[in-house]
Amino acid sequence: MLALLSLAALFPTFALAAPAPSEWTYKTALKEFEVPTNWSAGAHKGYSVSSTCTFDERRAIGDGLDEALELAAQARDHLRRYGNDTIFNAWFGSETDPNLLLGLYDRLVDGDKTGITFRCDDVDDECNGKYGIIPGYFRATAKDETVVCPTYYLAKPRLEETCVNRWTLANNGSELTQGAWFMHRLLHLPTGSGGRLSDVVDTVGAALELAQGVNHTQAAYSIHTVQYYALDVYAYDILAPGVGCRGDPNAADAQKEE
Ligand SMILES: *[C@@H]1O[C@H](CO)[C@@H](O)[C@H](O)[C@H]1NC(C)=O
Ligand SMILES: *[C@@H]1O[C@H](CO)[C@@H](O)[C@H](O)[C@H]1NC(C)=O
Ligand SMILES: *[C@@H]1O[C@H](CO)[C@@H](O)[C@H](O)[C@H]1NC(C)=O
Ligand SMILES: *[C@@H]1O[C@H](CO)[C@@H](O)[C@H](O)[C@H]1NC(C)=O
Repeated sequence: MLALLSLAALFPTFALAAPAPSEWTYKTALKEFEVPTNWSAGAHKGYSVSSTCTFDERRAIGDGLDEALELAAQARDHLRRYGNDTIFNAWFGSETDPNLLLGLYDRLVDGDKTGITFRCDDVDDECNGKYGIIPGYFRATAKDETVVCPTYYLAKPRLEETCVNRWTLANNGSELTQGAWFMHRLLHLPTGSGGRLSDVVDTVGAALELAQGVNHTQAAYSIHTVQYYALDVYAYDILAPGVGCRGDPNAADAQKEE
């Protein structure tokens, strides 16, 4: 008690309750800084699935999207770490700014997903239509909607199987796995990617040539190229570290001609 008294005598404020720190800042003290709206209100971190999908279909779509996001996140993180390394230059050419792609993969991962919807009824009758039997399609009349067709559920390996059984990007293309397929779907959507990308080239050989040729500026807008880079990085960093499974595009072409 004596000690407390003498402390209080030395430091008069010590005995009193410490005043609460002010919660006011220049931003809250002036009405000029009042935020009229919450700028991010209404944004969605998740995609939507329509009531036309069964529980099993929803789970499968959720799994595929989860893989697509994992694939995009690794591409983003690899770009943050290495930027224009040899993998980047192979797919996009040495004159493309890696930040352009960093932004695209970041958008896939963390961008607003409002309105991106997956449905399971073949509403436009294309699951077995002008392109044959296909795993899915985007709708010409509702550009952020994707139809997932019955064939999708039958035979897509998981993303982690990208390099097994001697599968290679050159032999097996950019849509072998669930995650790779869903990344393709997302890249077609205006809200998913910004809507400036298209199917410029298809095979590994054509994508690698595009990046080194006169049309190299198209590589960053080529949907399959964006998938191949992500898959190449995922294979090289995670699945088969330091090796990857890009495969030999010339051998792949030769095989197809046989
Ligand atoms: C702003 O909106 C976002 C998204 O709806 C919400 O998560 C966040 O809590 C809101 N912030 C404020 C300060 O209301
Ligand atoms: C990456 O960019 C830097 C700076 O522009 C340049 O010096 C370097 O040579 C490039 N690396 C490759 C592998 O192209
Ligand atoms: C991958 O490509 C090889 C060679 O073309 C082929 O034999 C194999 O069936 C393909 N794998 C899948 C799952 O399509
Ligand atoms: C480059 O792109 C233009 C426009 O798409 C096309 O007409 C031309 O054939 C392409 N050139 C090569 C060498 O692929």
